[in-house]
Amino acid sequence: MIDRRTLLAKIVGGFSIIALAGFSVPFIRSWVPAFKNETILDVDVSGMVAGDIKVVRWLGRNVLVVRRDRTQVEQLIVSDALNDPASLLSHQPDYAANTFRSRKPEHLLVYANCTHLGCEVDFTAEASLTGFRCPCHQSEYDIAGRVQKGAAAKLNLEVPEYEYIGRTMIRLRKG
Ligand code: FES
Repeated sequence: MIDRRTLLAKIVGGFSIIALAGFSVPFIRSWVPAFKNETILDVDVSGMVAGDIKVVRWLGRNVLVVRRDRTQVEQLIVSDALNDPASLLSHQPDYAANTFRSRKPEHLLVYANCTHLGCEVDFTAEASLTGFRCPCHQSEYDIAGRVQKGAAAKLNLEVPEYEYIGRTMIRLRKG
């Protein structure tokens, strides 16, 4: 038979556990959405004009969001000067396996890391933007992130997974 003191101790202990669980739930929940949201990033591309580049930080890497105009897109032909002009060897989602390497011709999204040893490529945001250059060993990429033949890098800049969630809103989403 349980004496009164033991019974009281058990009741107090039970309430303490319930109270601790109650306090813990909001704390734990505050972490869960933060973790989930790290895999998604919405990028507002309204107001971007030809040559504009946004650099956004996502999953520990910089992603370049480039606005191109019709002329820049029309210059993106399959050329012998490129190492992988049709992006057959390079890394991109299926919808970006085309000469402009994107879902829509006017927007390019690529990771900023050179495919040689990972340095971040340089660029000057301007309407006449023609591509990117790696400062480490001078690999050059065109405005679709396609690498020039003879460069130290052999693959085109990597394209992340993304989708349009509005006419001017792009969502980066981990595969
Ligand atoms: Fe870019 Fe070597 S790291 S060319």
